Amino acid sequence: MTIRADIERMPGDELLRLARVLKVPIVVRTIKRSWLVDKVLKELEKRDAKIPIALESPAIQISSVTKNFGKKTAVRKLNLRVEPGEIVGLVGPNGAGKTTTLRMLTGIIRATSGSIQVDGYDIVDEAISAKERIGYIPEKPTCYPSLTAREYVMFTSRIYRVPHETALIRMREFVELFQFEEFIDTYIGTLSKGNLQRALLIGIFAREPPYILALDEPIYGLDPRGAWNLKKLLRRLRDEGSAVLISTHILEVAADLCDRFVIMNEADVVGHGTLEELQKLHPDTNSLEEIFLSLTGGIPE
Ligand SMILES: Nc1ncnc2c1ncn2[C@@H]1O[C@H](COP(=O)(O)OP(=O)(O)OP(=O)(O)O)[C@@H](O)[C@H]1O
Ligand SMILES: [Mg+2]
Repeated sequence: MTIRADIERMPGDELLRLARVLKVPIVVRTIKRSWLVDKVLKELEKRDAKIPIALESPAIQISSVTKNFGKKTAVRKLNLRVEPGEIVGLVGPNGAGKTTTLRMLTGIIRATSGSIQVDGYDIVDEAISAKERIGYIPEKPTCYPSLTAREYVMFTSRIYRVPHETALIRMREFVELFQFEEFIDTYIGTLSKGNLQRALLIGIFAREPPYILALDEPIYGLDPRGAWNLKKLLRRLRDEGSAVLISTHILEVAADLCDRFVIMNEADVVGHGTLEELQKLHPDTNSLEEIFLSLTGGIPE
């Protein structure tokens, strides 16, 4: 039903492109929009209804991972797991090792020791399969400045082997959700930080769920409405079986969004668990903020 609504709202050129991809025979020059919508929906119905895939458990498994940069240890013997259907918050002060962890998880840098599996695939030995399964928003997004946002989304969809019609329909859904219509044909290189983040998110969500997401401070660049929309979306995806690891030092976001927390400080995990579990362990604290402060250098006077 939502697909019908998405297709009914598609701009004419997108609808025609979709019809062409689906090989809807268009023999007359002037066609009624409602006719084309029906034909497109019929073609989509004809395609095999896909059995939704479920993620392996755990979706993310980080086992005893250490990362040294020369003499500096950025992450020390980290164990972390994310199950399908949960949002885990990786929180910690500046320099704690959050970004380093996400960069190892996504295969951008290699761990000095330890192992990482994504959906059961080893990030080093089965890199392509593991990387194919993960959607990553980096702390400092950079990507293809000479592509428009639309070209970027379609380009990455091809890399991730998303059927063209799926990418078109999903792109439309998320362009609307992130209120991105105005920017979809803008060059990536000229987008603001928040809009670049939106373009990258649309690129990820054009793939098919369930997702394994590694998001490095994804709320930071977004305006309040964008942040609200993203939080709502992440909760929905979590409920539908996606697994999300999100790094942030905005504790309200973490407390509001995450099912569990891993608190890092100076390369070590200094606390983990649900808010209730953490509060039980630290009965003198009243909030995630106080737990965080007391575990990472003490609550200031
Ligand atoms: N490529 C690198 N070379 C040397 N040191 C590095 C490198 N990348 C990170 N570090 C160091 O590792 C430590 C952890 O950095 P990281 O970026 O993972 O922290 P973070 O928790 O993401 O911090 P922030 O909240 O500021 O984003 C820091 O001391 C940082 O200076
Ligand atoms: Mg960081």
